[in-house]
Amino acid sequence: AEPLRLAIAGLGTVGTGVIRLLEANREVVERRAGRAIEVVAVNARERGKDRGVDLSRFAWVDDMQAMATRADVDVVVELVGGSDGPALTLARSALDAGKGFVTANKAMVAHHGMELAELAAIKSAPFAFEAAVAGGIPVVKGLREGTAANALTRIYGILNGTCNYILSEMERTGADFGEMLSAAQEKGYAEADPTFDIEGVDAAHKLAILAAIGFGTRIDFEAVRCSGITQVSATDIAQADALGYVVRLVGIASMENGDEATGRLLQRVRPCLVPFRHPLAAVTGPTNAVVAEGDFSGRLLFQGAGAGDKPTASAVVADLIDIARGQAGAPFSVPVNQLATAEQGDPGERMG
Ligand code: HSE
Repeated sequence: AEPLRLAIAGLGTVGTGVIRLLEANREVVERRAGRAIEVVAVNARERGKDRGVDLSRFAWVDDMQAMATRADVDVVVELVGGSDGPALTLARSALDAGKGFVTANKAMVAHHGMELAELAAIKSAPFAFEAAVAGGIPVVKGLREGTAANALTRIYGILNGTCNYILSEMERTGADFGEMLSAAQEKGYAEADPTFDIEGVDAAHKLAILAAIGFGTRIDFEAVRCSGITQVSATDIAQADALGYVVRLVGIASMENGDEATGRLLQRVRPCLVPFRHPLAAVTGPTNAVVAEGDFSGRLLFQGAGAGDKPTASAVVADLIDIARGQAGAPFSVPVNQLATAEQGDPGERMG
């Protein structure tokens, strides 16, 4: 069979991770995909930089936007980031040209995922974003496919590795917030600008995407009520500990007073007191965990690495394998033109 040919925009941690994975697991990937998956073209801001991967076999594309219309590319993989700007332009033009589009960009999917999904449906082009939520945890597929037959009542979890690392390290060492933020940045968990991590915005992006998939509603990021962890002090953590709790930044989406078509969707991200015996209390370091409660499935726990090159690359390539097999699921659990517009709880506190 013909190989699936990729253009990769963005060669940061995740982009180079994808190239390494495709090399290291070439045989596994080819067997699962039923054909080879090959990188054809790449682009990044700086050409000369040493990234520890051999790029000599790939065409270097100076203008990232040109990837969308290259005849030798089947799928554009966007690992640039940013909710608007070049990433969004690339997404629109790649899908418009009928190419597959795979992204790890949670901000863009949270803001523009509906538009892109609609365009993908019109063009019959695959659009996939497993890597946008919770790194290596297959929670997009898990909610879309695994709980498809359920009415979900609640989805909640730890959706930002940086915050979870900071909070659990503050708990372990007694250090203050600023010190642990620097440590998280050194370890490469935080976004380039960590504001979105520590203010809860990154978790809110992911929550809005999961809520839409889990509840069959349109993504409504603006409706997430959100507060971050910058005000959490070492004293707060010590006092919580004395009472039998840990502090975690938790995103919660729940469907209140009815089903997906009639109920009210509540979406919030905030630091929560989690009792020692709750499964989320045991989640430490840059780990993510998502709990979904379905009426037939019962309580499901998805847990794993929420950030980092290898786990995120694992999710990107899983999407590529689906596409190579012609089995890329529709991006949402409900056909895009039939997603409900959920009435949102507490409109007084809308953000954005
Ligand atoms: N900065 C994010 C986190 C990376 O800490 O979870 C993955 O989205």
